[in-house]
Amino acid sequence: MNNNYTLGMIGLGTMGRNLLLNMADKGFRVTGYDKDEKMLKKLEEDGKAHQLKGFESLEDFIKSLELPRRIVLLVPAGPIVDSVIAELVPLLDKDDVIIDSGNSHFTDTSRRAKELSEQGIHFFGMGISGGEEGARFGPSMMPGGDKTAYESVQPIFEAVSAKVNGDPCVAYIGPGASGHFVKMVHNGIEYAMMQILAETYDLLKNGLKYNNDQIYALFNKWNNGRLKSFLLEVTKDIFKVKDEKTGGLLIDVIKDEAKSKGTGKWTTQVSVDLQLPIPTINEAVSTRDLSKFKALRVALANSLPHEAIHIKDTANFEVQLEQALYFAMITSYAQGLHLLEQASTEFKYELNLKKISQIWRGGCIIRAELLEDIFQAYTKQPKLPHLYSDESIQSQLKDILPGTRAVVIAAISNGIAIPCYASAITYYDSFRTANSPLNLTQAQRDFFGAHTFERIDEAGIFHADWNANN
Ligand code: 6PG
Repeated sequence: MNNNYTLGMIGLGTMGRNLLLNMADKGFRVTGYDKDEKMLKKLEEDGKAHQLKGFESLEDFIKSLELPRRIVLLVPAGPIVDSVIAELVPLLDKDDVIIDSGNSHFTDTSRRAKELSEQGIHFFGMGISGGEEGARFGPSMMPGGDKTAYESVQPIFEAVSAKVNGDPCVAYIGPGASGHFVKMVHNGIEYAMMQILAETYDLLKNGLKYNNDQIYALFNKWNNGRLKSFLLEVTKDIFKVKDEKTGGLLIDVIKDEAKSKGTGKWTTQVSVDLQLPIPTINEAVSTRDLSKFKALRVALANSLPHEAIHIKDTANFEVQLEQALYFAMITSYAQGLHLLEQASTEFKYELNLKKISQIWRGGCIIRAELLEDIFQAYTKQPKLPHLYSDESIQSQLKDILPGTRAVVIAAISNGIAIPCYASAITYYDSFRTANSPLNLTQAQRDFFGAHTFERIDEAGIFHADWNANN
């Protein structure tokens, strides 16, 4: 057996196969392994030009790789990753490298890195974003953990990644499970942006009574401006896709219950653990969960009082909605980046937000024109306390706030649910409130539980006798 392949992929589903084809295009000698014969056939077919071949036998696959071996796993996150690693390890040699590129939970990645390093195997987690197209023609990649191991594959990943202004959309993220953590937060932002677009669709469809062609035209117009982003791009295209069965548009026959695989939920869970608020991302997670109560929603839609009111002054509302969408996008990134900042301190990830916003500018699902501004903000001030602290973001916020408020008011007074828009503006208002009403919360806590409070005019911890005057 020739042991001369530079890298091997385990898992030849669409993502694994496309990434392998991408590597072969860039001139790397790569191979793959999959238990499923059909996947091997597909690899051979799609990789004909490069005479790509995969293995059905794990032993043969392992023997075909040059030493130290570099093996990428692209298998479903969860217990499958552990079982693949368990099968693999007895066949490996010291210093071989395993890279988990699925959407693994960051705590699993930490555990696996520790277990494998005890056996002399290098392991690191690398989030990949960009879906099938990205994997094939240039994804954004977030590797974190064993730096030396990453450096042994760095030229391959830099070659296959998306490029923006010539810069690769891959960079070493930091120690530990930081790569998977950053990918998880990327997905949290993705959830928020998708929900904001869904709310925008609702406002256009049920508020302005726009048909699908009008929605397409408006999204298309917006996507040529500052809202330009991968998610808006694909969203607009959805409003052109026909359904073969009905002859209408496919979007109109899709059931309104959203599924999820967990990365959004994990982002919310971690944010609560770290006590770092990301309400717009949380709302996006909750809204997918609420959507599953279809029968209850249908029943309540018939029984709860509601008078439908149309939004008037269409042209003006379109302008305001563009501003609101931009505001909500800024806020979604702001929350995700703030969480990264906090996690970096808590988990010692040494995250560089400038670098992260740089590699998110291309290849990934949340790539957007706005990320260039965010990258510039962190370039100017690497320790920016919050995205809202940046002056150029502040001047944009000033312009778009009145429109954002008008949209939120119109939606609420018309009874159109806008969980993410509403939470985004409230998040903004909470952060620009120097004196919040939470002095009352502290008073209540001390009143019924003697939990003490601090004063604004004197240092120390105080407790009051709240019943003294009663
Ligand atoms: C990406 C995507 C990708 C995938 C999500 C979808 O960055 O390429 O985020 O990872 O599409 O896992 O997540 P849900 O199934 O939870 O929506």
